[in-house]
Amino acid sequence: MKRYVVAAVPEIPPGTHKIIEVSGREVGVFNVNGAFYALLNRCPHGGAALCKGTVVGLVRPGGVGEYELIRKGEFLRCPWHGWEFEISSGQSYCDPTKVKARKFDVAVERGDDLVKGPYVAETYNVAIENDYVVLTL
Ligand code: FES
Repeated sequence: MKRYVVAAVPEIPPGTHKIIEVSGREVGVFNVNGAFYALLNRCPHGGAALCKGTVVGLVRPGGVGEYELIRKGEFLRCPWHGWEFEISSGQSYCDPTKVKARKFDVAVERGDDLVKGPYVAETYNVAIENDYVVLTL
């Protein structure tokens, strides 16, 4: 498995997402209330760019003419036909037993762990002594 750096955490604040291309695939990485999830940018229904859809919540019916918006920002509505998918699982709520968007694992990790390259330049000790920079070889 290869790992890819997507962004620094502050670049994707809660309620936003970023679409990246990795290994020839577009993937949307979403921040839902501080948790990160990644979905393939392809709707399993008809192939639309799913991650370019609208992030929505669930509407729970109340009494006559009443409703309540719950789980705000946890679902993605496809831009073509409006099917809705739970961002955390990719699960469709139009046909929950058959259709699921493809999801990927995503994690928040320390940046300095991710940017280490394969090479290490030789280093030396430097110290300040009596207003002079002193190099030790
Ligand atoms: S292509 Fe996404 S709902 Fe039809």
